[in-house]
Amino acid sequence: MVKSIILAAGKGTRMKSGLPKVLHTIFDKPLLGYVLDAVKNSGMIDYSYVITGHKHEQVDSYVKENYDFAGTILQSPQLGTGHAVSMALDALKGYNGEVVILCGDTPLIKPETIKNMIISHRKNSADITVMSAVFENPTNYGRIIREQDGTLKEIVEEKDADEFQKKVKEINAGIYCINWDKVSVAFSELKNNNKQGEYYLTDIIKWGREKGLRVGAYVIEDNNEIFGINSRKNLAEASQILHDEIIEYHMANGVTIVSPETTWISPDTEIGGDTIIYPNCYINGRNKIASNCKIGPFAHIRGGVELDEFVKIGNFVELKKAKVKSHTNICHLSYVGDAEVGENVNIGAGTITANYNPLTKVKSKTIIEDNVKIGSNSVLVAPVKIKEGANVGAVGVITKDVEPWSLAVTRAPLKVLEGWVKKVLKND
Ligand code: UD1
Ligand code: CA
Repeated sequence: MVKSIILAAGKGTRMKSGLPKVLHTIFDKPLLGYVLDAVKNSGMIDYSYVITGHKHEQVDSYVKENYDFAGTILQSPQLGTGHAVSMALDALKGYNGEVVILCGDTPLIKPETIKNMIISHRKNSADITVMSAVFENPTNYGRIIREQDGTLKEIVEEKDADEFQKKVKEINAGIYCINWDKVSVAFSELKNNNKQGEYYLTDIIKWGREKGLRVGAYVIEDNNEIFGINSRKNLAEASQILHDEIIEYHMANGVTIVSPETTWISPDTEIGGDTIIYPNCYINGRNKIASNCKIGPFAHIRGGVELDEFVKIGNFVELKKAKVKSHTNICHLSYVGDAEVGENVNIGAGTITANYNPLTKVKSKTIIEDNVKIGSNSVLVAPVKIKEGANVGAVGVITKDVEPWSLAVTRAPLKVLEGWVKKVLKND
């Protein structure tokens, strides 16, 4: 199996942020998480070394808490991308397979692309493969410089490039596949005699040529995949690219999305065919929505949500960690969180599961069994169970379990004082 090194030590100055760049999020998932997921899902890589530096404690704990197949290595000070890779020399001592090097700030890279790059590297019996792309506007990227016969010569950074080199539109995507046994020695030989005074990873191309190694490029088809995040503007642009891909994917799978522009669906949400999503919905986190559901307009699904077939989630409804069985309606102005809801349930407008105790900070569960009807404006104070077929009268405040097929009513009885208004007016 292949190993990977993910560069994530840089400061990300242009984000103007207290947070390390790679921990900025799209759909609440850090950029680094996207890269790690792509690496893992390529199916080719069994371990990743994440190189951390700036505010490394935060990046370290993110990796530790979320990824079994990855660990971090500190780079301090940060002397360039080549220096960053050299931090893994000890950890990879004696390893003689391939290493894929990526950057933590390119979240749109796809697992298949990583896989195909490794396959192409092997097919060409290459020692170094660099991923490249052709950009109409190549500004800021390293340029791929080729010989007359088309073979790779070197990579020149924008800051070091001359007038002619700057015109080259083939750029370095910043992703590499290298044979570690032959190439790792380069990282002790790189020089920093360039404009930025850094040890450039890109110099391994020239180094490899001089050592007589096989060096090649893997030209990527979809330029969006290597979109790098350097600013908040880039972050919004990457979110939009991902948004468009996801919406298109679901529509191709038979989901009706009435307003693609205003519907946001996280990459970790599955949706069955013939489900309709009305405008202005935000679906975040990991969710499974079955077929034939109706969602929105204006629904907020926050993750951990599973909806069975024919569920209706209406306007201004917020769901979090909720499993809802088929043919159940939660149609207006409700919050349902940390809950299990049975089938054929009707949840009236304005119903709230009070799942969180802010004093103890404990979250508790609400269980609503099959065929239950909850009247409007009710508060179900968790932990609580509304058993099969029970009804809760409108404005119920339910603090203990309700037995099957019974009615729970908590409101004060209605009193009508006849002629009361006229009496008051007379006394004035
Ligand atoms: C780099 C490439 C450039 C390529 C571009 C693609 C070099 C010298 N240049 O430029 O050819 O077109 O990526 O996006 O490699 N990092 C560290 N430690 C360091 C320096 C950087 O971990 O000491 C990390 C950064 O956090 C970042 C990545 O390496 O994730 C790339 O560094 P960055 O400074 O963004 O390089 P670019 O100028 O974008
Ligand atoms: Ca960059």
